[in-house]
Amino acid sequence: MIDILSKARITAIGTYVPEKKLTNNDLEKIVDTSDDWIVQRTGMKERRIAAENEFASTLAFKAIENLVKQYEKDVSDVDLILVATTTPDYAFPTVACQIQEKFKIKQTGAMDINAACAGFTYGLHIANGLITSGLHRKVLFVATETLSKVTDYTDRTTCILFGDGAAAVLIEKDEENPSFIVSHMGSNGDGGKHLYRTNLSTTMDGQMLSASEKMVQNGREVYKWATRTLPSNMKELLLQAELQPEDINWFVPHSANLRMIESICEKSGFPFEKTLTSVEFMGNTSTVSIPLALQIGINEGKLRNGDTLLMYGFGGGLTHAGLIIKWSVDDVGR
Ligand code: UT7
Repeated sequence: MIDILSKARITAIGTYVPEKKLTNNDLEKIVDTSDDWIVQRTGMKERRIAAENEFASTLAFKAIENLVKQYEKDVSDVDLILVATTTPDYAFPTVACQIQEKFKIKQTGAMDINAACAGFTYGLHIANGLITSGLHRKVLFVATETLSKVTDYTDRTTCILFGDGAAAVLIEKDEENPSFIVSHMGSNGDGGKHLYRTNLSTTMDGQMLSASEKMVQNGREVYKWATRTLPSNMKELLLQAELQPEDINWFVPHSANLRMIESICEKSGFPFEKTLTSVEFMGNTSTVSIPLALQIGINEGKLRNGDTLLMYGFGGGLTHAGLIIKWSVDDVGR
């Protein structure tokens, strides 16, 4: 971790989730499961599912439109479009290029990144770095997923978890009031076999993988890794920021599973009441789960400008990334 004073601020946020709901009762009709089991093991009640003709790009466009509307923002002059997704419409062109075309953004770089469920925290770290270094001044960063399209609805251990959605944030140059305090990224490739979706290759470390092109997860292994990894990494972030857990207004972890979040809170000394989550009514939306939790926090009047947040993403790869930021979006008189 390098100590550099940030020159970037998150100025606006917009989100979108598809209309169709998939409840625990719906899942009881698809696989051998129960509302009780799902609530007890994950805390989930519902998820949102994209329509057949809705893709990562479609959801992304709507999240951006919401951002523009709510914060009265102009995105025609952004100089980088960054998209975090594991479920792009195409391998290429990227969702970022589809956004460039849709919003007629004239002079911009455009690229997708794939850090699985850590995509949002990876992307914020990257966007801050690019603006702080002076290479860019206005980054449109979008997280978008249609996980339902790659979920195996015959596998009860995974199909109960995932949902769809999108979120957009605008990150702009602001030396006076930067958002970013500290951040880091990490990875543990040896755990890649615990959460994957095959593509051109169907082997890993010489072992055959499922070739179905649906997502495969060894939930137990990912659970153990995340609840072991996060508490020490969060401690490291706090140390670097010279903050104590009580200085953090909201802990915003990847909303993978409420029980997991309870365990991480317990191990790292964060009161569970001070977490923002989206898992209950959105399920696990991978890279979108953290910004959806932020949006819910705003809607419920919990998250306010001036609050200090610790966000931590983790997922397939295995990847992880965390940030401590000061929440300070534009005030548009609401
Ligand atoms: O976003 C990317 C990162 N992903 C994660 O963070 C996921 C982390 N893992 C998890 O959230 C949890 O491991 C799961 C929710 C996926 C599973 O919960 P668990 O408490 O780890 O259950 P388990 O896999 O150890 O299974 C326990 C039992 C098994 O039965 P037996 O062998 O004890 O008889 C499973 O067959 O629960 C059974 N089971 C189910 N029963 C009813 C598994 N899935 C279901 C189900 N309904 N949907």
